[in-house]
Amino acid sequence: MTKHHIALIPGDGIGTEVLPAARRVLDAVGDFSYQEFDWSCERLAREGAMMPPDGLARLRDHDAILLGAVGAPAVPDHVSLWGLLIPIRRGFQQYVNLRPIRARGIDMVVVRENVEGEYSEIGGRLGRGTPDELAVQESVFTRKGVGRVAAYAFALAGRRRGLLTSATKSNGIVHTMPFWDEIVAEHAAAHPAVRWEQEHVDALAAKFVLDPGRFDVVVASNLFGDILSDLAAAVAGSIGLAPSANLNPERAFPSMFEPVHGSAPDIAGQGVANPTGAIGSAVLMLEHLGLDEAARRVTDALSKTSARTPDLGGSATTEEFTSRLLSLL
Ligand code: NAI
Ligand code: MG
Repeated sequence: MTKHHIALIPGDGIGTEVLPAARRVLDAVGDFSYQEFDWSCERLAREGAMMPPDGLARLRDHDAILLGAVGAPAVPDHVSLWGLLIPIRRGFQQYVNLRPIRARGIDMVVVRENVEGEYSEIGGRLGRGTPDELAVQESVFTRKGVGRVAAYAFALAGRRRGLLTSATKSNGIVHTMPFWDEIVAEHAAAHPAVRWEQEHVDALAAKFVLDPGRFDVVVASNLFGDILSDLAAAVAGSIGLAPSANLNPERAFPSMFEPVHGSAPDIAGQGVANPTGAIGSAVLMLEHLGLDEAARRVTDALSKTSARTPDLGGSATTEEFTSRLLSLL
């Protein structure tokens, strides 16, 4: 069996608590070597940057990256995000952000566009501090960027229950969203077996709450996908449950796997974080590496464990949850 080389970036807060749990689970089902990186808001305070200037080069030769979470109360969120996560997602062309949500009769995957859209550096501010102060932020949608995430989502829906829902807002956002809709519609032709629909994102948010069981694959822009997947995770029970993958489908670069949640400063250091999202992210990594049997074993154990952390009304610590899970493997 080939040994897989994994880059570990625990990050901040509960990231440093849930990632060791995921690592223990990985070691129970496969053969991995790890290189750990201390890139975080703590490093930012110490050395002036979230990661070193050659950070991407250091990650480049790993088979995958497993990340906990970054963020600290003293650091503006855009600094931690743009100092680490976004450079990795963009530098490694991880243009698909996959966020599966499975629980309580819900089985859906949000496919979020991950490298362009509303999260752009184009724009600026004028007249700071004056009554005429203004801010402009441009969204960037490209034919290539929308097309490749639409193609991925249609193919995924074809392998699942065959329903694709595209999140739009073409009634209010009159340039980029009709462009998004047109490109999604073009890709539908190549996937006649997939039923597809488009929904305005506000109505879609309401349906996520009222009837989440009807959705299969949902494709959305960077901003809409970010919001919808947090919403879906909350509807499914807890944000601590939700895993995600940042995929470079062409495998030209390593992909990155991380729980949807952040560093949770309100519970950090107490040892009570739910590691399910991090462990689920490790499962997505196993699947990406072709280790389907190992992935299935972990998924199976997760579904069987009766341990519950406080976010789900239980009293198990991260350590107790993980030990109970390991005893099922
Ligand atoms: P958060 O996800 O850290 O926390 C939201 C709420 O959910 C908190 O009450 C927290 O205790 C709870 N929670 C989250 N994960 C949990 C888990 N595994 N087990 C039990 N409870 C859990 O989001 P918040 O508070 O908006 O952000 C905190 C920091 O994390 C900020 O600095 C933010 O920028 C950063 N962040 C980082 C992300 C990343 O690294 N990908 C994603 C989201 C936020
Ligand atoms: Mg989010």
